[in-house]
Amino acid sequence: MNGRPRRVLITGATGGIGRALALEYAAPGVALDLQGRREEELAALAARCREAGAQARTHALDLHDRTRLAAWLDELAADPPDLAILNAGVNIAAPAPGETEAADDMDALLEVNVRAALALARALAGGMRRRGAGQLALMSSQAAWRGLPVTPSYSASKAAVKAYGEALRDVMAPAGVGVTVIMPGYVTSPMCAAMPGPKPFEWDAARAARRIRRGLARNRARISFPFPLNLGCWLLGGLPPAWSGLLLRWLGYGR
Ligand SMILES: NC(=O)c1ccc[n+]([C@@H]2O[C@H](COP(=O)([O-])OP(=O)(O)OC[C@H]3O[C@@H](n4cnc5c(N)ncnc54)[C@H](OP(=O)(O)O)[C@@H]3O)[C@@H](O)[C@H]2O)c1
Repeated sequence: MNGRPRRVLITGATGGIGRALALEYAAPGVALDLQGRREEELAALAARCREAGAQARTHALDLHDRTRLAAWLDELAADPPDLAILNAGVNIAAPAPGETEAADDMDALLEVNVRAALALARALAGGMRRRGAGQLALMSSQAAWRGLPVTPSYSASKAAVKAYGEALRDVMAPAGVGVTVIMPGYVTSPMCAAMPGPKPFEWDAARAARRIRRGLARNRARISFPFPLNLGCWLLGGLPPAWSGLLLRWLGYGR
């Protein structure tokens, strides 16, 4: 679809994967819109992207700020980029094994991972449909295949994003708008470092960004990696939950 998109929006650009994506797309003839919370990080990243020949604008925005987000949604719907990668996200864990996550932490996670992500996807899809072109990518996770006891809310949020993205792809296809769900395994980043549980087949962020870019250039419905973890998680999701629960505990993901 967008073999070489000229305007690319990346949310969560100050994080491990977002930063690698920004650098992957940074090239002459490309205009990048980079969102994150930390202004200094955004400015430094934009400078790196300009060194690579791209134009770069920064959008320092906390996705909890519903008023500012609503204003940005209007702007994006009126003038959407060629490609938007909705990558911003957070993770939380329970304070101790056998305990539930704190209610405030759950609300904060759902606000960013689900509410803001879906609101952005909806606004951008509307603008792209009016234009008759565009491509959206929603960042899910391998955790969407089967809820992990170490991160219940995070798993639930990524399953929501996966379901929404798959459905939106079918809605948008007749309008010439591509929608892709990205399901990474473990990718080196601050979030990954803080995650509880084993992290098999961990990739560095630059490798993940290359894989994502290749998949988006082909308008894949799903970009899911690495293969062995994807296969394992997909099979786990198909098992009766009692069996997959036992397996997860045996593998070290129990709480
Ligand atoms: N790393 C992995 O192993 C892995 C695996 C599967 C899926 N993912 C998904 O990939 C995406 C990127 O993850 P990552 O590993 O790169 O994480 P990360 O390094 O922690 O980066 C998270 C990004 O999201 C932004 N963000 C978080 N809360 C925000 C808020 N309230 N408002 C605005 N921006 C906010 C952060 O902005 P600031 O830095 O400016 O705060 C940062 O740019 C996430 O959706 C994550 O769930 C990651």
